[in-house]
Amino acid sequence: MCGITAYVGNDNALPFLLQGLVKLEYRGYDSAGVTIIDSANKINTYKAKGRIKNLEELLEGNHVEGKIGIGHTRWATHGVPSNLNAHPHTNNTYTISIVHNGIIENYQELKKDLIEKGYHFNSQTDSEVVVHLLDYYYHGDMHEALKKVISIIEGSYALCVVHNDNPNVIYITKKDSPIVLGRTQTASLAGSDIPAILDYAKDVYFMEDGEIAVLTKDDITFYDADDKLIQKELIHIPYDNEAAQKGGYDSFMLKEIHEQPYVIKETLRGRVENGDRVVLPELDAIHDKLPSYNKAYFVACGTAYHSSIFGASVLEKLAGIPTITQVASEFRYNDPIVDENTLAFFVSQSGETADTMAALRLAKQKGATTIAIVNVLGSSISREADYTIYTLAGPEIAVASTKAYTTQIVVMELVAMYIAQALNRNSYDYRKLIEGLSSLPAYLEEILKDEEIFKGYAKLLEHERDCYYIGRGLDYASVLEGALKVKEVSYIHADAYVAGELKHGPIALIEEGSIVIAVATQPNIASKTISNIQETIARGARVVLFTIEGLDVQGVENTYILPNVDQLLQGILVAVPLQLIAYYTAVFKNCDVDKPRNLAKSVTVE
Ligand code: G6P
Repeated sequence: MCGITAYVGNDNALPFLLQGLVKLEYRGYDSAGVTIIDSANKINTYKAKGRIKNLEELLEGNHVEGKIGIGHTRWATHGVPSNLNAHPHTNNTYTISIVHNGIIENYQELKKDLIEKGYHFNSQTDSEVVVHLLDYYYHGDMHEALKKVISIIEGSYALCVVHNDNPNVIYITKKDSPIVLGRTQTASLAGSDIPAILDYAKDVYFMEDGEIAVLTKDDITFYDADDKLIQKELIHIPYDNEAAQKGGYDSFMLKEIHEQPYVIKETLRGRVENGDRVVLPELDAIHDKLPSYNKAYFVACGTAYHSSIFGASVLEKLAGIPTITQVASEFRYNDPIVDENTLAFFVSQSGETADTMAALRLAKQKGATTIAIVNVLGSSISREADYTIYTLAGPEIAVASTKAYTTQIVVMELVAMYIAQALNRNSYDYRKLIEGLSSLPAYLEEILKDEEIFKGYAKLLEHERDCYYIGRGLDYASVLEGALKVKEVSYIHADAYVAGELKHGPIALIEEGSIVIAVATQPNIASKTISNIQETIARGARVVLFTIEGLDVQGVENTYILPNVDQLLQGILVAVPLQLIAYYTAVFKNCDVDKPRNLAKSVTVE
């Protein structure tokens, strides 16, 4: 996945393709490529690892010209960043070229089948199956071939296809991955996101899942999922490119908060089978060795440390393996008791955090089996760990982590279930838990509709210097992360406490008007937290409570009832309101939410 551009028109395609890719650079990428069909109907494909500048240099030396082309910037999901894995991908006879955003879930079986049919694969990507399938089903009509291929592939995709048999046409289709189309006087254009085309077209077409668009220099023809010719409405984009890069949101942080339903779906994609089994081929190599581990570690920094606290608890509960969570900067200097019977997880959005990296090296040296849970494919931590499982949060640009946190927890739930199933521990209802995981995106959409409520809670914090977050059990991880978000983006001192510890110190700080944000979602202990809340109310605190239905919350000024999901999943739901509280507090205080003072997105020094 990452950025797509496409052009067919009266002029050279390359300038549009490249400027569009540059406009999508903010999304992050690790390689770039273009295909141009020249006047001799030849498919010319150029790709370069690294920056778009590298691709431009390559193109300059080759004098590429042609009035139709497709372009791509890749953010690796399957296969490391490299020239070969970069898009576009071509068939073995160089007649078809494609670019793809998304994930083809069933690519492994399709690839096996295509290899048996004699197709040669050049890359490790899931995307390459699409171009060989198109080749296989192409009998002179690319529209028909594309229809056939989308009936076979499973997963998410935005796909642009060109064939040199018909060098004036681009075919585009999509499912669960966006694509935007536009027209100028003399050309048809496409981009995976609005910024790619906004300088050329202010009025755009948004495609729906299953539709096919046929682009020529003169017009764009749309077909619906039943292959009926349809007229689509042009939508006017009322904002400029800078706003468009943020998806129309005011900041990357807000955009990334809103992306969570989608990226959780992506992270779950292809990782569940028959509704009750977890599929994690990344761990299959240690499947039979799992009974030999007598201890596990979760090691990370910052937000990833908080998701680790959550994940460690879920692993202990489901798999029954004693699990320790430690901040990476402590682990590396604490002479941890780690040996070949230790399973050690290293969790990181960037995959580059220096302390986490050092901790990983130490654990490896001591003989542990190391597993990375990271977001950036090909990052240092993913390369050094014995095994890596990726979150599929996509590029996270705001410094304060949001979608990486929730997708990390989703991966940890899957890992815990995978290990528990391998150990034949069947006390938990996995079917119910998996159903719960699948229901998260829809519930999160509902929660996001209540943004105004959370904005109201943020108003309570706006003029505060301090605030207190409390929770027990898994809710403690949630309040740690909620408090960290407020500290990071709004510079308010937020103290997160285990609710039961209030009476051992912090309650001395509670006075008339103190703000307490409490999370009580775990049925066995929620009522205990609510008693602690009452103790703060008795001392004048103003409370915001996130809880589940059925508890006695009388006297609490602000109560938000979360949807009823499995208790091991509530932490994912409550993360979103807590992020929004931090976000709006920062907005009210005029803070730079995307780039908070003194913080860096990736901390590569100790
Ligand atoms: C920095 C970022 C945090 C992040 C932490 C760990 O401090 O500002 O948002 O949680 O690093 O980063 P990682 O990339 O390892 O998850």
